[in-house]
Amino acid sequence: MTSETIKPVTSGTFQKMKNNGEKITMLTAYDFSTAKYIDEAGVDSVLIGDSLGMTILGYDTTINVTMDDMVTFTKAVSNGVKRALVVADMPFLSYQVSKEQTILNAGRLIQAGAKAVKLEGASDFIVNEVNHLTTSGINVVGHLGFTPQYINTIGGYYIQGKTYENTIKLLQAAKKLEENGVFSIVLEMVPEESAKYISENLSVPTIGIGAGKYCDGQVLVIDDILGKYPGNTPKFVKQYANIREIMTDAISTYNNEVKNGQFPQPEHTFRLTDEEREKLGYTTIK
Ligand code: KIV
Repeated sequence: MTSETIKPVTSGTFQKMKNNGEKITMLTAYDFSTAKYIDEAGVDSVLIGDSLGMTILGYDTTINVTMDDMVTFTKAVSNGVKRALVVADMPFLSYQVSKEQTILNAGRLIQAGAKAVKLEGASDFIVNEVNHLTTSGINVVGHLGFTPQYINTIGGYYIQGKTYENTIKLLQAAKKLEENGVFSIVLEMVPEESAKYISENLSVPTIGIGAGKYCDGQVLVIDDILGKYPGNTPKFVKQYANIREIMTDAISTYNNEVKNGQFPQPEHTFRLTDEEREKLGYTTIK
């Protein structure tokens, strides 16, 4: 594909895909080269998830991630993407303080290259922030169900929307977000039937993670599908590769080859001319 023929994915494309029954694909990325490979593979959207707190920065949760972290990784990812819709997570406390802070923080992510921001929850306060962003020209993705930034109040990694009543509450929350301008909603760790009901009763597309096959799209964390993250892999992840094994083998082989003199070989080495070498006092060199 030449750059002239690339048609970027937009929030409008997401809506068209839902209307046409086409599945939307999204993966997280945190660096330039991974973002480029995801984009070239035809994935519709790249999310700079605050999951980078765990996958890249090694924290236990997403709560420690800062705006500065998100801006740095959003720049790296955006530089690798030509077609996919780039969405950046707003980190914990970046949209909970005031309208002014919310819009300035979202603006930083958009200026770093994101085409949309994602934020978690649907309290009255958050819904107002969503309204302020969307009416200011910033595309917003909602995030409901299990919301990792609320881990301390939820109390653990629990499935959400497990009863009829809770499914209806989730749908009402999703509707509030929709009415205030989100163009898509991530549904995390929700039973398949509840996610189907919510997806069928919303106009905007849902993107599921651990929410079954009836969502309008799917998102997963890149480190999980590649088998790179050293921690636990959730039940809803399908691992498509074992990068950790490939990396560990390559790194151990390098370590052993340096220690036993097998690396570097002549093909990895620059040499002087004979004349220059002899000036150094080396008549021959192995
Ligand atoms: O932070 C993240 O990677 C996310 C996805 C899991 C949806 O929010």
